[in-house]
Amino acid sequence: MTTLTINGQPHEVDAPDDMPLLWAIRDLVGYTGTKYGCGRGLCGACTVHLDGQPTRSCITPLSAVGQREITTIEAIAEDATGASVQQAWRELEVVQCGYCQSGQIMAATALLRDNPAPDDAAIDGAMRGNLCRCATYVRIRAAIHAAAESLGQEET
Ligand code: FES
Ligand code: FES
Repeated sequence: MTTLTINGQPHEVDAPDDMPLLWAIRDLVGYTGTKYGCGRGLCGACTVHLDGQPTRSCITPLSAVGQREITTIEAIAEDATGASVQQAWRELEVVQCGYCQSGQIMAATALLRDNPAPDDAAIDGAMRGNLCRCATYVRIRAAIHAAAESLGQEET
């Protein structure tokens, strides 16, 4: 048995060490907001945070997770930055089909925690690995700027 800490709660999973974290999150624990896209670390749909760092859960075996805190899209709004990102996503109607968007929000939240006022180049660099078949990239970028602005206003 392996104990995973997901969204602040311990979860015992009966799984081999080489099982990808994504499988455990979705199929064993039941958090289905994190999506399977390519399964090869290439699209970003499966992005979660491990101790706050954006991580491709499809290529992260359980053995590599250790004691780190896993955060999924289901809990991202518990964090002020994540809540602002989700709010901006709603206000700017970023989502089209939605499949990639939990990964996009996880990546955007990690970016804004590291860089509270990213320019377009910083956004493009941080978000480059998160693909969107619906090509919502322009709205994603605008929503990240909007979230940065609203977080900046909260601090003043
Ligand atoms: S499903 Fe993990 S990067 Fe595509
Ligand atoms: S919104 Fe459809 S893949 Fe991104």
